[in-house]
Amino acid sequence: MKTSVAIYPGTFDPVTNGHLDLIGRGERMFDRLIVAVLKNVDKEPLFALSERIEMVREVTKQWDSVEVDVFDGLLVEYARKRGAGVILRGIRAVSDYEYELQMALMNRKLEPRLETVFMLPGESYSYLSARLVRQLALEHARDGAAARLRAGICEPQEARARHLP
Ligand code: PNS
Repeated sequence: MKTSVAIYPGTFDPVTNGHLDLIGRGERMFDRLIVAVLKNVDKEPLFALSERIEMVREVTKQWDSVEVDVFDGLLVEYARKRGAGVILRGIRAVSDYEYELQMALMNRKLEPRLETVFMLPGESYSYLSARLVRQLALEHARDGAAARLRAGICEPQEARARHLP
């Protein structure tokens, strides 16, 4: 009997409810779903690799067939190593399409047997992105630091060291 193994790759900086919605859909569709967190990101991530993994583990622990792993280098190589036949990606809006198309076609060129499957997250998540969540997280951190400064708990040097006002 064929077993369908899919990889849901990403930076997950941080994992959002939109990602989680897609993981839930993938979990229902594939026998095994590997959520693969990219180790070396081009841009400096806000969250360290260990934090990104921990957050993904925490929110996916209800699913036995979902595994969280780390990958580095080419996704197609990782998929080959894990015996996966499918890459799962989400498309929220038309704006995602061009980037996703480029990636899917490049991956197909590199490994024609690997299929990219696109799924739509629930429409309530179509506005949500890790970039916006990062901005919110930074704003909250700033608010927290300002409050600590007012309360005299946090020294200005500490705030500066954390790139906070
Ligand atoms: O969450 P993201 O940042 O949109 O995920 C992008 C990711 C990790 C899927 C993509 O950058 C990737 O697959 N990187 C690994 C390097 C690779 O295989 N590149 C060739 C594909 S075009």
